[in-house]
Amino acid sequence: MNFELSEEHLNVQQAARDFAQTELLPGVIERDEHQKFPMEQVKKLGELGFLGMMVDPKYGGSGMDTISYVLAMEELSKVDASTSVVVSVNNSLVCWGLETFANEEQKQKYLVPMASGKCWGAFLLSEPEAGSDATSQRTLAEDKGDYYLLNGTKNWITNGSTAEYYLVMAQTDVAKGHKGINALIVEKNWEGVTIGNKENKLGIRGSDTHSVMFQDVKVPKANRIGEEGFGFKFAMKTLAGGRIGIASQALGIASGAYELALKYSKQRKAFGKEIMHHQAIQFKLADMATQIEAARLLCLKAAFLKDQHKDYALASSMAKLFASETAMWVSVEAVQIHGGYGYVKEYHVERLMRDAKITQIYEGTSEVQRIVISREVLK
Ligand code: CAA
Repeated sequence: MNFELSEEHLNVQQAARDFAQTELLPGVIERDEHQKFPMEQVKKLGELGFLGMMVDPKYGGSGMDTISYVLAMEELSKVDASTSVVVSVNNSLVCWGLETFANEEQKQKYLVPMASGKCWGAFLLSEPEAGSDATSQRTLAEDKGDYYLLNGTKNWITNGSTAEYYLVMAQTDVAKGHKGINALIVEKNWEGVTIGNKENKLGIRGSDTHSVMFQDVKVPKANRIGEEGFGFKFAMKTLAGGRIGIASQALGIASGAYELALKYSKQRKAFGKEIMHHQAIQFKLADMATQIEAARLLCLKAAFLKDQHKDYALASSMAKLFASETAMWVSVEAVQIHGGYGYVKEYHVERLMRDAKITQIYEGTSEVQRIVISREVLK
């Protein structure tokens, strides 16, 4: 067992850290306040190869491993989780899904532009009445011979209005339950696609979350991913990797909040000395550092298993569960260490605390992760 990062890993980590400091930090408070999508920043990340990190260079990607992806996600998320979620969704849910399960024609047409960062995609599984209970899809993809007729509404779609292409899960054969679901590639500009208003969220306010409605959208059969009825398995397999991305985002939020609290504790004086000299603060910092390290190891283990082509669904759910709970707890403690200053925007920790909450909800709530984990351990 080797816990050392390679030279290549350290370089990716440094590149992401530099990008976060120079490109994400300026304006992050304003983007959060005004719910402004980080368009310029995401385009630059695309040019630098961060939107298709793990995709083979022959399809326009950067050909890196999942460990590199975890490291980059942590660094970007320390500063701006509204931007890092775009990176996570495009890498894990969109590009990985297409590279692994799409046919050559679909890869050339859709994966290449998204992996090379010319545009990005979205993953449309959630519905008004199908969140955690993802098998209960109401969106219909009626089989019409050489095309599907798509009707329904998808909710909480990250990159909802800025994505060029959507990967949409929809029910074709209701009698077959989850085995009747298909995964379809839909272009945003097709007739019958409507985008709802941007959601006014508690956290990750810069990110672009919308409902997307489909009314009699004709989707060619050539745009189905995999065999007929493969859609639910496609979603589950893709989400197993996505959870590594969100776990790393949570890790980044936690470590960003911790680093700010550590710095503040060395500067702020109370009762005649810097607050880091008070044991109440020292114990908080010790617990924060320990939990973050445990979350990091879980993220890296899940990434390692994925890179080794071993089963990683259990490890990714464990990483996401633990890292997201850590992000929530650590960011609350970071606000507490800052006292009143933690409650105002200039000190960044209140934003990290608000951003942390979504990591316990999207790509499977903490309860969903516990379902996945308990089923495995009880097998
Ligand atoms: N790999 C392959 N197949 C899998 C799988 C995996 N990791 N997980 C489940 N499956 C298969 C099962 O084997 C089963 O297939 P068979 O019937 O052939 O055996 C099938 O999928 C159905 O599985 P379950 O019986 O376990 O289904 P369930 O209804 O009990 O639900 C669940 C399981 C874990 C709760 C699942 O519904 C789930 O993960 N829900 C959460 C959905 C989610 O994460 N949504 C996030 C939306 S995307 C998002 O948030 C992106 C964003 O914007 C950032």
